[in-house]
Amino acid sequence: MFSLRQSLSALLVSASVGLVSPGTASAAEEVNVYTHRHYEADDALYAKFTEATGIKVNIVKAKADALLERLKAEGEGSPADVLITADAGRLERAKSAGVLQPVESAALTAAVPANLRDEEGCWYGFTVRARVLVYAKDRVEPAELGRYEDLADPKWKGRVLARSSSNIYNQSLLASIIAADGEKAALGWARAVRGNMARAPEGSDRDQMRAVAAGIGDVAIVNTYYVGLLANSSDPKDREVASKLGVFFPNQDGRGTHINASGGGVAKHSKNKANAIKLLEFLTGEAAQATFPETTYEYPLHIADTRSELLKSWGPFKADPVALGKLGQNNSAAVKIFALAGWK
Ligand SMILES: [Fe+2]
Repeated sequence: MFSLRQSLSALLVSASVGLVSPGTASAAEEVNVYTHRHYEADDALYAKFTEATGIKVNIVKAKADALLERLKAEGEGSPADVLITADAGRLERAKSAGVLQPVESAALTAAVPANLRDEEGCWYGFTVRARVLVYAKDRVEPAELGRYEDLADPKWKGRVLARSSSNIYNQSLLASIIAADGEKAALGWARAVRGNMARAPEGSDRDQMRAVAAGIGDVAIVNTYYVGLLANSSDPKDREVASKLGVFFPNQDGRGTHINASGGGVAKHSKNKANAIKLLEFLTGEAAQATFPETTYEYPLHIADTRSELLKSWGPFKADPVALGKLGQNNSAAVKIFALAGWK
């Protein structure tokens, strides 16, 4: 335990170099962030936060599951003040594991729509992504698409691409289908979609889009920011992939498209709680919110405020208003249903 803590402090110190100019903060004013997000744009935001508040930001980056395990293992001795991760399913997991604490802040309550934060204040979303359908523009007409539920139709036999069900994004999508249609229908859906797949699930969301462009399948389930990442990639092959794809928002005539959030919560044993809350307020505040669509191709908390031309080109859309916390609570049912359906 002690050695783990020691090595963590070493990590914290080394990770903070380059984010903070010397002398901008007193040693007492700092905030330790465990984050699973890997964007340079986040580092730039932390630097802006330090500039605005004098609070030094120390970063530990690791995979979401590893961060959660670390927080649990460290217990009371954890140096973490804030946990940041993508997908409310993971934030709910952290909450149930007891590594977050409820916090109240009028600014957070005002900035974050109620469905994008934990009702007890254990986590708050700060960016939004939609789980959409991308389709081959030369083989699929948008009019052929409709709801997620329609991907179960035999007309999609051998044409659907999706990543593994071990991925939280698919688990949260299925959790939203459970919330809307019930567990029995969700199982029927997962089974039928598995039967319609062009290949067994493999690779990332970006790989599903590459497979559509390569003609392996015709429609893929992916998060919106990955479309932005391909379209703006330094690799011309990725940009070519993006040029062949259309973006479709499912369930517009009903509950709306499934969305999720990146978000953060204050660590249970935070020693810098006030600074932790200030950082969350900063990330959900107007200045930071304006940057996400341009830097990470994520939507701001208020989707309609999106200023990015690329994101606007995908069109305005209606988002499923279900509370993301509810989807986190459906997570274990979703995992079970995927296993029953044979969706690896
Ligand atoms: Fe992602």
